[in-house]
Amino acid sequence: MTNFMASKILSAAVVGLDGALVEVEAEIVPGSIGSFVIVGLPDAAVQESRERVRSAVLNSGRDFPHKKIAVNLAPADLRKSGPSYDLPIAVSILLTTGRLNFAPGGREIFIGELALNGQVRSVSGALPIAIAARRLGMQTLYVPQANANEAKLVKELEIIPVKSLRELINHLEGKKKIIPLEHSEIIFDDTETGNDMAHVRGQEQAKRALEIAAAGAHNVLMSGPPGSGKTLLARTMPSILPKLTLDEALEITKIYSVAGMLNEGAALIKLRPFRAPHHTASGAALVGGGTWPRPGEISLAHRGVLFLDEFAEFPRAMLENLRQPLEDGIVTISRAAGSLQFPARFILVAAMNPCPCGYKTDPEKQCVCAPAQIVYYQKKISGPILDRIDLHLEVPRMKFEKLTDEAAGESSKIIRERIERARAAQSGRFQGRGIITNSEMSSKQVQEWCALNYESQALLHSAVDQLHLSARAYYRILKIARTIADLAGEINIQTPHIAEALQYRPKVEN
Ligand SMILES: Nc1ncnc2c1ncn2[C@@H]1O[C@H](COP(=O)(O)OP(=O)(O)OP(=O)(O)O)[C@@H](O)[C@H]1O
Ligand SMILES: [Mg+2]
Repeated sequence: MTNFMASKILSAAVVGLDGALVEVEAEIVPGSIGSFVIVGLPDAAVQESRERVRSAVLNSGRDFPHKKIAVNLAPADLRKSGPSYDLPIAVSILLTTGRLNFAPGGREIFIGELALNGQVRSVSGALPIAIAARRLGMQTLYVPQANANEAKLVKELEIIPVKSLRELINHLEGKKKIIPLEHSEIIFDDTETGNDMAHVRGQEQAKRALEIAAAGAHNVLMSGPPGSGKTLLARTMPSILPKLTLDEALEITKIYSVAGMLNEGAALIKLRPFRAPHHTASGAALVGGGTWPRPGEISLAHRGVLFLDEFAEFPRAMLENLRQPLEDGIVTISRAAGSLQFPARFILVAAMNPCPCGYKTDPEKQCVCAPAQIVYYQKKISGPILDRIDLHLEVPRMKFEKLTDEAAGESSKIIRERIERARAAQSGRFQGRGIITNSEMSSKQVQEWCALNYESQALLHSAVDQLHLSARAYYRILKIARTIADLAGEINIQTPHIAEALQYRPKVEN
């Protein structure tokens, strides 16, 4: 046996969405026999780990040392939480006390929670840890069997799935090797979810706007009287959203992995998220936060849709928090211990009534709101938020005859095919530019990719003059026109594309 030798082994913590190395070192110290302490800023879960480790070791065919043992988790200034250090602590103790015949090479990482009987339980954050492990040049990651599918998405890293401490001991001592996982190729299913657009009667303009939104990742605000179908329309979005690319899927899965929201055994998030938080949700639930910061709804909606129904009912302060994420695609969460960032690049789909009674824009039903009430209502959503919404549309109430007569519209499948083609045009264009969709273009990129011919230029020019459009509105129109051209399969933006883009301006320009 390699007695009292190297007992320092590696584990990892999740900080934000990234993995960081943690050293786990067990030592035998003079003092009372049989005591066992863990140091290095552990939280309650790590302290509880002592009981689990002791019992798991005893149930794995090794006796627990009758010595005073101190386990140090380093670096000390990194807060460690959760039960994922059980496994490395157990391995380290067995090594230090000569109960495990294994020489660590310094390039293996152990993560896993131990059950009292020695079984290894799943932990959250296995995917970010695997990604960090590869980046840091590690060779092997020992993960709970239940997290193996997540970890094996990372290539060039040996993934050893561990079911129990006993099994791991046999593996490390070379008695019975665990077979490393094969890295599987990923197949994206394009199962259709959500309501099919064909079931929404009429509302052609709204459907078209949602198609543009999905194609170029533009934000939409639908305004209209009660019962006009805004919620119904928004809920058709999942059925037309484009398939995820592998990179997008990994980004999203990392977020869900850190939030502890991956179903056990689930490898990868394969469908674009559609999140619809209620207006009574807390600020932390919406944007993220908490003592151990967790991603909020806006991050869970990353690369998908954030649907805010009854938009005016959300507290104004909460909507203000969306300003930075809407601009940068990132949310910054400040805490005493420094700030932390999560990705949050989502398509905002918002729906609201134009006034408290809902009928201000209805041609037939009389609005009963006092003017002051309407002003108060509309002021709940600030100018800067409205300014970040590209597509503004009125969803009118449908006449009964139209509702019953109208033939079924295009199916989501056909719309989605157009959207996929438009996305392909965008990814070709933006290759190596660090952006994926038209909505993310900077002003400089708009100039580069949205060149206009003379006629289109003249049309846009007169619109800007007559409607007193702001610079931001100008760029917004060009970005939308770019998406409309991509949907039409055109290399250059044509005059009808500009003309259509002009229709989606807010009624009151900001
Ligand atoms: N164009 C349509 N085709 C088919 N069904 C529709 C259409 N418009 C509305 N409906 C039906 O009418 C009902 C009300 O629609 P929905 O809840 O989407 O309205 P809303 O605009 O969100 O209203 P509110 O402002 O009150 O939230 C739903 O049951 C929906 O299925
Ligand atoms: Mg509604």
